Amino acid sequence: MKILVLNGPNINMLGIREPEIYGSLTYDDLVSMITKHCENKGIEVQCLQSNHEGTLVDYIQQAYFDKVNGIVINPAAYTHTSVALLDALKAVSIPTVEVHISKVDERESFRQLSYVSYYASRTIIGKGFEGYLEAIDFLADGGN
Ligand code: DQA
Repeated sequence: MKILVLNGPNINMLGIREPEIYGSLTYDDLVSMITKHCENKGIEVQCLQSNHEGTLVDYIQQAYFDKVNGIVINPAAYTHTSVALLDALKAVSIPTVEVHISKVDERESFRQLSYVSYYASRTIIGKGFEGYLEAIDFLADGGN
């Protein structure tokens, strides 16, 4: 079982950016938490982050050639704008869960549309870092 955890723009700023919304833990803390969780479950995991839409598309395409079994993606702001990320996910046809750290459903109206949701099997919102672990478990348990 091989999982790619992909994070979009400004997720590298966790711990610094709007701690009242995203908390005080850092991106490195997130990666350690995911790595430990996957080690315990015998899941091979790769965590990648980019601030650039095209790079995120490249990572999704590469997942196909790397025979990744599941993608956990927090597209961050590109959630609400990117048809390119949606198309990349549809192109590789890998089971995908969308994660948002914050309660996007209770925030600004421009955050209410998610293009990635048109493809993702599940969307987990407002559960903080735990949401990523729940997404990994869902994919590892054969959810698609
Ligand atoms: C986010 C929510 C997005 O609206 C925002 O642009 C982000 C993070 C979240 O994890 O809650 O950067 O995806």
